[in-house]
Amino acid sequence: MYVPERVLTNQDLEKMVDTSDEWITQRTGIKERRIAAKDETSSSMGTIAGTRAVESAGIDAGEVDLVIVGTATPDYMFPATACLIQDNLGIRGGAFDVEAGCTSFMYALSTASCLAASGAYRNILVVGTEVLSRIMDWTDRSTCVLFGDGAGAVVVTPSEEGTFDPTFVLGADGSGGSALFLPAGGSFQPASSETVNQGLHTIRMAGPEVFRFATRVVVDSTREVMSRLALGPEDIDLFIPHQANERIIDSALKRLSFPAERCFLNIDRYGNTSSASIPIALCEAEKAGRLRAGATLLMVGFGAGLTWAAGAMQWQLTPASVSRPRATDSRELTPA
Ligand code: ACO
Repeated sequence: MYVPERVLTNQDLEKMVDTSDEWITQRTGIKERRIAAKDETSSSMGTIAGTRAVESAGIDAGEVDLVIVGTATPDYMFPATACLIQDNLGIRGGAFDVEAGCTSFMYALSTASCLAASGAYRNILVVGTEVLSRIMDWTDRSTCVLFGDGAGAVVVTPSEEGTFDPTFVLGADGSGGSALFLPAGGSFQPASSETVNQGLHTIRMAGPEVFRFATRVVVDSTREVMSRLALGPEDIDLFIPHQANERIIDSALKRLSFPAERCFLNIDRYGNTSSASIPIALCEAEKAGRLRAGATLLMVGFGAGLTWAAGAMQWQLTPASVSRPRATDSRELTPA
């Protein structure tokens, strides 16, 4: 993972908009977030996180044969941020972005998981990276207190270990697109002095509508993954939900009858980092010793689209790719 050095606290925000530490803490659980420096971008932060992921997987960047980046704040419309990261790391394999709002990392991870399981790719670098501070309206208290910048990354490799195959449920409801969107800057409304003057290059969000949507899909998609694998809450060692609002997470835990101590939370320190939130949480959970080898992990994300995705897998600490010969029978493989 990588997060920018600059910390923006709730107290700092009190000086910028009509808000209070008490309101933000009670309504969201957020105390502070990180803000990218001027020269930092989604690709620069993703490059650092990607480099660290490759190192901790015990492989050389040259062994990575595919890069998938989940981001809602790419450096450019094109080239893809994945291509920039691929070049920065000296990777020679393919590279593409996945855009599913805050769910982008989960969509990217499920794609990587299937491609690794098929035997087509051996070491897939999956990055979630965001500079949300660049698309904030810093005068809108209903959104600017929620988001932060950062990046996280994982390497997905085929593995013969584990008692079940990674299982993902991806969902979307495009009819809810206007609940969370960036009006201008795309081909529908290209940048012009008018769009800039009207502030159309910043996030628009119907907060309560997104809140209701999120509490519903987190529970439904988590239940669906558990039911497909015949797992109960007692079988899940660690639950990592997208860190958007602690109240959304609390409500989901209650409805799922899931013990809070097995749920990972770091929203207080980073706010909502969109596609980076789950890989940052994964990294911190691993560092904190909460992900032992073979642990059953359940992750769930949601965001613009509207989209959602839940996935369960077993965590492997040892890089499966280092000592094993390339698989010839993909049916024997499950990704780590
Ligand atoms: N400080 C003080 N007051 C505020 C603030 C603030 N920062 N923001 C809003 N308020 C006020 C509102 O103006 C409103 O005042 P009013 O009653 O006088 O009109 C009051 O607080 C309540 O506003 P609500 O919007 O109803 O507050 P709510 O309890 O719903 O909390 C929030 C708002 C935190 C945005 C919540 O709706 C939420 O978390 N929604 C989900 C957001 C989310 O998860 N988005 C990310 C999706 S992922 C992605 O793809 C980006």
